Order: sequence, then C-alpha cells, then structure tokens
Amino acid sequence: MEQKMKALRAQMEEKLSRVDSREKLASFWQEFLGKKGAIAEMMKSLGGLSKEERPAMGKLINDLKVQAEERYKDCSERMEQMEMAARNRKEQVDITLPAKKRSTGNLHPITIVKNEMINVFLGMGFEVFEGPEIEDDDHNFTRLNVAKDHPARDMQDTFYIAEDILLRTHTSPGQIRVMDMEKPPIKVLVPGRVFRSDSDATHSPMFHQMEGLVVDKGITLCDLQGMLDRFVQQIFDADVKTRLRPSYFPFTEPSVEVDVSCFECGGKGCSLCKHTGWIEVLGGGVVHQQVLRNCGIDPEVYSGFAFGIGIERIAMLKYGINNMGLLFENDLRFLKQFKD
Ligand code: DAH
Repeated sequence: MEQKMKALRAQMEEKLSRVDSREKLASFWQEFLGKKGAIAEMMKSLGGLSKEERPAMGKLINDLKVQAEERYKDCSERMEQMEMAARNRKEQVDITLPAKKRSTGNLHPITIVKNEMINVFLGMGFEVFEGPEIEDDDHNFTRLNVAKDHPARDMQDTFYIAEDILLRTHTSPGQIRVMDMEKPPIKVLVPGRVFRSDSDATHSPMFHQMEGLVVDKGITLCDLQGMLDRFVQQIFDADVKTRLRPSYFPFTEPSVEVDVSCFECGGKGCSLCKHTGWIEVLGGGVVHQQVLRNCGIDPEVYSGFAFGIGIERIAMLKYGINNMGLLFENDLRFLKQFKD
C-alpha cells in the first residue's frame, strides 16, 4: 500500500507540473480528489487492512489528501495570476499612440464675419431684422425710389420669378419692411442673402449684404460716419478712419461711398489699397425724403441714414482672400482655416 501511495504522489506531481489550463486543473481534481478519484479509492481500500494497520495508513492517506488539496489551491491561484497577467497584457493601452481625433466643424467665414459685424452694431444699440429673399418689385425697387426705368431694374441684373416677383437684389427692401412695421426711433440691421445675375472673379450670383437703417429726429451724415468709424475700427481691429465720397443711390440723398484708411499700410500705400491709402467698403447716405414718405414717416420731423455693406467684401479684406469663389466652393482645406 505504501508503494502505491508513493507512486500516486509521484503521479500527482507529474500531472501538476503539466497543468497549464483550467481544464487540466479540473481533470487533476477529478483524477485525484474527486468522489471517484484515486485518493477516495485508497480510502475505500483501507477496509482490507488489519485493525492495527488501519489508523496509521488512514493518516498517511489523509496527509496525502491535504497535500493534494493544497497543491490544487496553489495551482489554481497561479492560474488566476497567469490569466490576469494575460488580460492586462491584452488590455494594455499604448499611451504613446496618437489619439483618435474627434473632428468638429466650424462656422463658415461668411457667418463668422456676419456675426462679428452684428456684434459691433448690437453694441451700438441696433436690432436685427431679416426680410424675405423672394421680394416684390414694390419693396425691392419702387418704394426705394428706384424709378420704373432705372437701370437697376434691368433684366440682366435681376432674377425675376414672375412679373412683379423677384429674388431681392439687395437688403435695402428690409428698410421698407421695418419702416412699415415700426415708427421712429428706428435702429436696425438687415443681414441676408441677395441675388444678381452676375458672375465673374469678383461677383457671385448670390452674395451677402448687411443693411443698416437709423431713423430719428435730427439724424445727419455725421452720425453715419461716427458709427462707421467705430465699426471699421472694431472689425479690422486697427486704428483706422473712414472717408466719405459723393456717390449716387436712388434711396439716399446725399449718397456716399465709404472708404476705410488702409489697415495694412496705415494709409501710406500698398498693394491692398492699390497705393491709394484707402479701401472702398460700403455705400450709404441720408435716407431720401421720398423713401420716408413712402413709409408714412414725415421727413419734416424725422431724418435717417442708411448703409449697405457687402459681407463677402469685408471677409475678403479681413482675411486677405483674393478670390471670392473660395467662399462658395466649400473646400474643407479652405474652410478649416477659420476655426477659432
Ligand atoms: N443697396 C445698395 C446696393 O446693393 C447698397 C446701399 C447703398 C444700401 C446705400 C444703402 C444705402 O442702404 O444707403 O448696392
């Protein structure tokens, strides 16, 4: 019997040394420690021994059983550590790898500039109104004092939808809509898309304008220039000033073309200002008395100024963009440069 136990112990050690998986460990248990395992079998065979031999032999078998259980436990713990180590290896994060970038979009440069322009005027107490892009002849032309035979009505410039319905050619009809709704004091901005049948390197059939209108008692051209000075200084972030040149628009009298002193060279002359020191930025003037009358506002009591700014023009100047097409092609390589 002792011989048998020795052999069994050796067999156990040999088997354990080859355990490298949970399955093998389980089969070790079954083979030696299970109900029908080798140790249980030996216990049963105690019955065949004499009374004197039995206790000593029983103790030996029991010791072997305790030993087998301990070895089983050790092996199981080792297995657990191995599994854990394998898992850790597998789940290891290489912190030197470049992170996955979550790409976010950004506002279109036209929107950025439009918002900036609105912000400057909001700071001066303006409100924002948005008129319809499909307008009637009356708002777009007639009530703005654009006579029936004015060249601006030429089919070449205007996209007509029906006889008297068109895509607005400027944001100025917004002036009429505001004056129909509100009585002075009025201080409003009308940003939006406008349309003209015109397309080349510096013109697009769709572009953006921002109209400004102020109507109150005692408003003069000086008020216009004062506000525009503030506007150009903030928008171009430079100590610039404006200059008014006489011009003509049917809806203003007098009318002016507004230049800004060159923010690139400080007025000395450079390629941006074509060596004149000045850059043309917008048109404006004192609201024509007939326009006020067309909206039921008495020009003997009230006066106003208005202006229209091309948003693309400001964006191109501000960012040094020399091709207007870039603003509409929506090439991401271009657009991504405007992330704040
Ligand atoms: N509507 C004009 C245009 O599109 C721009 C303009 C000029 C607007 C003078 C005005 C203004 O309000 O007073 O060319």
